[in-house]
Amino acid sequence: MRLIYATDYKDMCRKAANLISAQVILYPNSVLGLATGATPIGIYDQLADWYRKRDLDFSGVTSVNLDEYCGLEAAHKQSYRYFMETQFFSKINIQRSRTHVPNGIADPDEECRRYDEVIHTLGGIDLQLLGLGHNGHIGFNEPGPLFQKGTHCVELSENTRQANRRFFAHAEEVPHKAITVGMSSIMQAKRVILAVSGKQKANILKKAIEGPVTPEIPASLLQLHNDLIVVASVDQ
Ligand code: GLP
Repeated sequence: MRLIYATDYKDMCRKAANLISAQVILYPNSVLGLATGATPIGIYDQLADWYRKRDLDFSGVTSVNLDEYCGLEAAHKQSYRYFMETQFFSKINIQRSRTHVPNGIADPDEECRRYDEVIHTLGGIDLQLLGLGHNGHIGFNEPGPLFQKGTHCVELSENTRQANRRFFAHAEEVPHKAITVGMSSIMQAKRVILAVSGKQKANILKKAIEGPVTPEIPASLLQLHNDLIVVASVDQ
């Protein structure tokens, strides 16, 4: 594991974006595993900025997002497909047919199978960008008695629903379920970047990277990944 400390959110975003940009420059046909949440927004902004300056070209890139809320269609403003469109895809030259986000309104079991097949057919993920949930979740792999291997449908914990409440107008609108890729796809990614920002995440980050490997803190499994880069700004 490599740990890169950043001074603040902006610095963290630049450093993470630099790593992603190196991947895209070296391997223009990369499969990028992408994340949502507040943390990656500045990373996507930075990458889009470099694209505008013609320093980056995403025309050969394929993207695979981690997760999607069940019951929200792509056009829903709180869906993760909508998030990716507005925060990133619409600002770069990625081909829409090469962007993958789980379908929140498909039959969940079938969608989980289909999504695993998509990842398998692509040959896995070259670089996986992750944020960190307050309870140690990655994607929507929630704390529990075991690590879930494949893409699965998950009942969101109250902690996670609360944390994501800020994106919705009313608390009751926050979905109870989501589809998330499992720990196998994440662990099989050739490189993983865990981006963490904010003082309030310092404690869970410490547990995730220094504590015991346990499904109660799903991100702790990343300690066993042989190319994990943690980019963190947790001082403020
Ligand atoms: C959501 C997403 C995760 C993300 C987490 C943290 O639950 N499913 O992929 O890492 O939120 O989000 P934030 O970066 O807003 O703290």
